[in-house]
Amino acid sequence: MDGESFLTTYSSVEWPSIQRTTDYWDAWQRSQVKAQSLYTDWADHPTVFREMMRHAFGNPDTDFFEQIHQSFLGLEKAHALSLCCGDGGFERQLLERSIFAKITGLEISPERIAHGQAFLSQLPPGQAPLLDFFQQDVNLGQFGHAQFDVVFAKAALHHIQDLESALKGIEQCLRPGGVLITIDFFGPSRFQWTHEQLDACNWFWANRVPPHLRNDEEGQLLPPITRPSVESMIAMDPSEAARSGELHSLLCEQFTVLTDAPLGGTVLNLLLYGDRVNRFDLADPIHNQVLEEAVAFEHQLIAERRLQSDFRLMVLQRKPG
Ligand SMILES: C[S@@+](CC[C@H](N)C(=O)[O-])C[C@H]1O[C@@H](n2cnc3c(N)ncnc32)[C@H](O)[C@@H]1O
Repeated sequence: MDGESFLTTYSSVEWPSIQRTTDYWDAWQRSQVKAQSLYTDWADHPTVFREMMRHAFGNPDTDFFEQIHQSFLGLEKAHALSLCCGDGGFERQLLERSIFAKITGLEISPERIAHGQAFLSQLPPGQAPLLDFFQQDVNLGQFGHAQFDVVFAKAALHHIQDLESALKGIEQCLRPGGVLITIDFFGPSRFQWTHEQLDACNWFWANRVPPHLRNDEEGQLLPPITRPSVESMIAMDPSEAARSGELHSLLCEQFTVLTDAPLGGTVLNLLLYGDRVNRFDLADPIHNQVLEEAVAFEHQLIAERRLQSDFRLMVLQRKPG
């Protein structure tokens, strides 16, 4: 990476769309600094996370760090490129836990980068991890040539419209033997939820979630989960789930798949959407029981192939030649 700002270069994605995404994530970063809420999405809830790990890897006590570390020996010396890295919070943990040695992060939002850099600058001299940030549009796919051991993409590729350029760029920037590790959303593009997943989610919410958790502060029932319009999705953040529904097949076509672990989320992501996840108190056994049952319900529907897994952990390698 030469550190040049993306601002001087245009990708195939139109500039107003990139600018809207940047504004959206700048504002999101500001809201997080003020927010009091405990969890921002379904998998942040510890009970859900443990159940997800149990179903995906047979061990409720594992986490993504351990999974990556155990599966791919030697990565602790790796220089990784992290796409759409946000404020680098997860990347800091990857470095602190010696999963990788050094990370270069690419991110579109200057406020997210500034937040990450401010955090690093507060650390005592010599204790900051080897993490640096560049503001760049990942749609460009300009990541250099054969210079990274790993490309890491967490909640990243589902924000990319020009997947062809980005995937080509990933292939080009990996050293021989290098891997792409992605933990991402592979569900319907623009959140156009399938009938089956909406039915499953709303059935579970109405029949298995206790009534007091389904009411708002005024005692009114919360509305059922519905499919947003594509227009409203684009108006909110043009990058959101831009082509997520195509991602799995494109990756499988272009790379050799080393790991493909379904993580679920097809029901849970909708069931706990927005602030609903914060209604479930970790200290309340009934709340935890409902969540455990929800994960088991979703897992069974996925195992029976009545639903696909919207979230996955994948490890991929360049195809030979
Ligand atoms: C869901 S967040 C994930 C952040 C981080 N990887 C994580 O897991 O916490 C998606 C991030 O992608 C960034 N993003 C969206 N479109 C992008 C683009 N075209 N190029 C670079 N970053 C982008 C957003 O600003 C946001 O920080």
